[in-house]
Amino acid sequence: MDMSRRTVIAGAAAAGLTAATIGTAHASGGRKPEKELFGKLADGTKVHRWSLENGGTRLKVLSYGGIVQSLEIPDRHGRYKNVALGFDNIDDYVASSPYFGALIGRYGNRIGKGQFTLDGKSYQLSVNDGANSLHGGAKGFDKHVWDVEGFTSGSDVGLVLHYTSIDGEMGYPGTLRAKVTYTLTGHGDWRIDYEATTDKATVVNLTSHVYWNLAGEGSGSIYDHELEIAAARFTPVDSGLIPTGELAGVAGTPFDFRRTKTVGRDIRVAHQQLLYGKGIDHNWVLDKGITAKPRHVATLRDPSSGRTLSIATTEPGLQFYSGNFLDGTLVGTGGHIYRQGDALCLETQHFPDSPNHPSFPSTVLRPGQTYRTSTVHSFGG
Ligand code: BGC
Repeated sequence: MDMSRRTVIAGAAAAGLTAATIGTAHASGGRKPEKELFGKLADGTKVHRWSLENGGTRLKVLSYGGIVQSLEIPDRHGRYKNVALGFDNIDDYVASSPYFGALIGRYGNRIGKGQFTLDGKSYQLSVNDGANSLHGGAKGFDKHVWDVEGFTSGSDVGLVLHYTSIDGEMGYPGTLRAKVTYTLTGHGDWRIDYEATTDKATVVNLTSHVYWNLAGEGSGSIYDHELEIAAARFTPVDSGLIPTGELAGVAGTPFDFRRTKTVGRDIRVAHQQLLYGKGIDHNWVLDKGITAKPRHVATLRDPSSGRTLSIATTEPGLQFYSGNFLDGTLVGTGGHIYRQGDALCLETQHFPDSPNHPSFPSTVLRPGQTYRTSTVHSFGG
């Protein structure tokens, strides 16, 4: 058990909570994930919701989009809140979700004009964000029902999710077989392992799109959350949020999160990049680049509750999106309206528009190769 969990349990004991209240934090292994019907799509397809609990973390995942519908963690007193924005019904996810909690594919973030050339062939992707392709196009991996199986393994519990994207889907070449494993460890960490294979050369960039609010979804703004990102550079964008190709230093800019600062501190600085993003919506060039094993890249902390989220990844980039396009038109899980800045996303990834920037780390996947990346979310209270 790590120090943060020990603190949680001590805090819970002090608050008079029982072992049952703080979930399986005491157990050596978690319970097998349980499945229930969440709803049906218009064509009658069933969508299931899986519930997992381990090491003091409670996770609910939909077969639709692999969506994290709820993620509950305790505060410094052992009090649980759902810290991931979402909906309580499938219809809202289908009708209007801005990728709440979803798996993103085939390509996380934007590809300029939805076009790229690979091995001399040009491809036109589905365009769904002005002139550009965003998060895999009009019907990305977030809008498909995945095959899901639950597992227990030693002190871990988890889900294995499969989706096969046929050759040409959304304009991408090759049949892509994606496998994503969500593991809840005995420490309460949520780990994601992404894998994919293809039968033709293609591009792939998978990520997860949880909207975090460590004070609890629907509780207000995240501008007081404190954030640290281990990155000395970021990728500036044009007005359509496509990287210019430059890797710019963060020193002396609102993008410097090398030392912890609040999300809101510099968000209203009149910087051209913040005007383009309507706030922060940028990719950080993580200092260590691609690594074989996940290493720490970012820490988020809500001072009011004491809840923390620490992210480790094998990926070279991190898209930090400060919830700029939440506009008060969606009602979330707890019945509250989501407004601008009510959550933030920290999406581990390769850089946006990499297929059009040969100098960026490559997102090309060829037959015979296996795409593999991992990201670990650790929580404290
Ligand atoms: C992008 C934002 C976009 C959001 C969708 C983020 O990953 O960077 O520009 O609006 O996803 O909700």
